[in-house]
Amino acid sequence: MSFDLVFFGGTGDLAWRKLVPALFQAFRHGKLPSGGRILAVARDEMSDERYREWLRERFQAVDGAKRPKDEEFEHFAQLVHYRRMDLSQPEHYLRLKEWLAERQADTVVLYLATSPHLFTQICAQLGAAGLNDSRIRIVLEKPLGQDLASAQQINRVVRSVFAEQQAFRIDHYLGKPSVQNLMALRFGNALFEPLWRRESIANIQITLAESLGVGTRGSFYEGTGALRDMIQNHALQLLTMIAMEPPSTADADAIRDEKLKVLRSLKPFTADSVARDVVRGQYRSGTVDGQAVVGYLDEANIPAHSQCETFVALRTEVQNWRWAGVPFYLRTGKRLAARDAQIVVNFRPVPHPIFPSNNQPNRLVIKLQPEDGLELQLLAAKGSSHGETLAPVSLDLDFDKAFAANRVGAYERLLLDAIAGRLNLFVRSDEQEQAWRWVEPILDAWQDDSSGPRSYAAGSWGPPAASALVARDGFSWAEEQ
Ligand code: BG6
Repeated sequence: MSFDLVFFGGTGDLAWRKLVPALFQAFRHGKLPSGGRILAVARDEMSDERYREWLRERFQAVDGAKRPKDEEFEHFAQLVHYRRMDLSQPEHYLRLKEWLAERQADTVVLYLATSPHLFTQICAQLGAAGLNDSRIRIVLEKPLGQDLASAQQINRVVRSVFAEQQAFRIDHYLGKPSVQNLMALRFGNALFEPLWRRESIANIQITLAESLGVGTRGSFYEGTGALRDMIQNHALQLLTMIAMEPPSTADADAIRDEKLKVLRSLKPFTADSVARDVVRGQYRSGTVDGQAVVGYLDEANIPAHSQCETFVALRTEVQNWRWAGVPFYLRTGKRLAARDAQIVVNFRPVPHPIFPSNNQPNRLVIKLQPEDGLELQLLAAKGSSHGETLAPVSLDLDFDKAFAANRVGAYERLLLDAIAGRLNLFVRSDEQEQAWRWVEPILDAWQDDSSGPRSYAAGSWGPPAASALVARDGFSWAEEQ
């Protein structure tokens, strides 16, 4: 299958940090279909040679095994071409069209790796130039909108030019092997399904913790915050995967229909419930991994009185028969104690404890990062001269080790899926809009509340109020147990 993959924003941060390295890995793994071209477009005037040189220089800074050997780079670079393009100029789209017409590739993937405020303009211009025939797919990077209205506006324009089947909205968490494993765990095994409901599960905790701060992305982050950056997309996507009903097939729409139902079943927020069930925080200076780090307000490009949240913890419920009354706690933050992404499923205690000691309930931990694994915590008899003593033991699976040869990074997987036209791991417009609909009351309530985010020390697990949120229901975060 021949393909042309066009990057708009070819000299940008995303193209360099994520997309080109992922494509190189796909090339190295022999997964990139042969007969492909990688076409980068951006504002600067550059020849193919100069662009390839620019890539080569950047690859020099890449660590160890991920850096191409000279010969490998030479082969990869032959696939890469560059043209200057001013995205506001209609005739530049016609030139792109001619470039693509030089050969009629079976598939054309147009990847918008630009600033999102250009998405509507680019889509409209693509439509005007007739760059929307059925061979063409459009890939849109998050953030898709700042709120429901702006997301709807982008979707309206995308839909006026492309069919929904041509639109690939990226949430890179869906490309992580651990997230695909979650589907396998739930729908490839009969074991858990009977337990996957309110009768057996006490609560579910989704934590996406980062030890890094905002780094050089201050100006972007300041207008975004943790709720829009991580909860509206990554955390909610994980929640849908955990809570969805088994789809009737593995087809993209069968899966996305079920995910949408979960989003529609989330308990809506009101101003009162935001005050009670949502905690926002902002990091102050502290110590992370043994290093002293500055607080958010001292990061580059952050205004002195910023009220932007770098941490969110919230409690919600999925209002349907399966999950009625089960709290779902979501938590994310920058400059937390560790880089640690996991989903913890806490089961209910045994109904009638007959052992006097330790009656700790079972727990399933789905580990997303830094390692990809699964841990099932059980109680076992330790043996003792004074009656039976129970002790927790773990069944611990490390998928990174078990499947090392087949592991591919999230962007590699998603790029290959976009080329192959597999939509399963991409977000449909109605899912995305529903997620905005759900977070919007939180944004509105914060706007009306001048008290701002609570402080937390860098290197901690966030403001104490996040622990209180869970403690109110008689539970605690996994790391506090
Ligand atoms: C991005 C956010 O979507 O996800 C970043 O914009 C965040 O702020 C990143 O750091 C986290 O992704 P990962 O894959 O490193 O967990």
